[in-house]
Amino acid sequence: MLKAKKPYEAAIAKTRDARMKWWREARYGMFVHWGLYALIGRNEWVQSIEGIPVREYEKLMGRFKPKPRPARDWARLAVESGMKYMVLTTKHHEGFCLWDTRQTGYNAMNACGRDLVREYVEACREFGLKIGFYYSLMDWHHPDGARAAYDPAARRRFLDFTWGCVEELMTKYGKIDILWYDVALPFASDEGWESLAMNQMARGHQPHLLINNRSRLPEDFSTPEGHVKAAEAGRGWEACMTFDSASWGYMPSAAEDSWSPRQILRMLNTACAGGGNLLLNIGPKPDGSVPDAAVKPLTTVGKWLKQNGKAVYGALDRSDVGSASACGAFSRRGSRLFMWCRHWPGEDFALGGFKTRLKKATFMVSGKPIRFEQQPTRILLKGLPKASPDKIAGVTVLELDFEGPPKHARGLTTPALWT
Ligand code: GLC
Repeated sequence: MLKAKKPYEAAIAKTRDARMKWWREARYGMFVHWGLYALIGRNEWVQSIEGIPVREYEKLMGRFKPKPRPARDWARLAVESGMKYMVLTTKHHEGFCLWDTRQTGYNAMNACGRDLVREYVEACREFGLKIGFYYSLMDWHHPDGARAAYDPAARRRFLDFTWGCVEELMTKYGKIDILWYDVALPFASDEGWESLAMNQMARGHQPHLLINNRSRLPEDFSTPEGHVKAAEAGRGWEACMTFDSASWGYMPSAAEDSWSPRQILRMLNTACAGGGNLLLNIGPKPDGSVPDAAVKPLTTVGKWLKQNGKAVYGALDRSDVGSASACGAFSRRGSRLFMWCRHWPGEDFALGGFKTRLKKATFMVSGKPIRFEQQPTRILLKGLPKASPDKIAGVTVLELDFEGPPKHARGLTTPALWT
């Protein structure tokens, strides 16, 4: 039976830790923005940015001819990059549905005779990735998408359409792990969207489901966008980032504009320090193939993660030791800190402000011990090599094993990153 808001929130809070366990441990996922906008290649908002009339824009459907099973390329790349889950735009603001839907003819079946969401789901399963569906509530194609704001009959039709889409996505493809809503316009409240009922319907079909915070209900996790910043303690969060800070959808760009492996590791470092996740986007080309500029940086990070996964995957606590070093941020598991030296500190350096006794310091990958001396105001680390031992990206992790959860004089902050 339908629950009211308070009992609903209490009920999902009870199962949250169990439902979110895999997600918290996975840490790193791939966002995929793909739709008709890829054919234009000037941002997924191009229809709005350039004022393209709906009747003109929808003709793109006739030119949408994906290569065979592009989702396998994304999934393979995700695995090689060390990512553990994917989130695909099943429908972006343009309103074009990538799946075989009965709610509108504006869909992939009518464009190319294929259910591209099914292909995606199959690829995720084949490559062992968890499956997320992005769904834009805002819809520029649906005739009621805007007028629903002031016309009650239009609103009813639009809500029925939305419900129908979400219910199809939750029932046609077996187990789905994440429902990732976006842009809850034109309604300003969850009552406007009837989100409470809709999300209960979704959870009724998918009891393990994680839902993000963009249906105007807080649900399971927060979604900082374009920056990496921890939510309040105890709250799950996932920073979503474009690949080159310009566009989510495919947009040909110079390789120099893409993130370098070191920049990606910096985002991941910040996410780990705050106990959060990173959802890094690729915008496939019109035929679905992966954008070339993303491959090298992503797979380089993947190589690094193969060696350094201990500082990333699995349960982590917020490090809460703020800027204890200028050379990189820390991830933490209990009383163990992982210092990601993104800038090599040199042969001797110190960590100031720690109030807990350090038992042991090692290079995480090789396990080699590091000499240290703990003084009242600092821990001196001595006899390190001249240059960073990590040859993949120049990011070496030092493992610091304390007597208990490390306390720090300037503590209780987590680093944030704006790009
Ligand atoms: C935004 C944008 C959108 C993108 C999304 C990803 O709200 O409208 O284009 O899909 O964020 O988080």
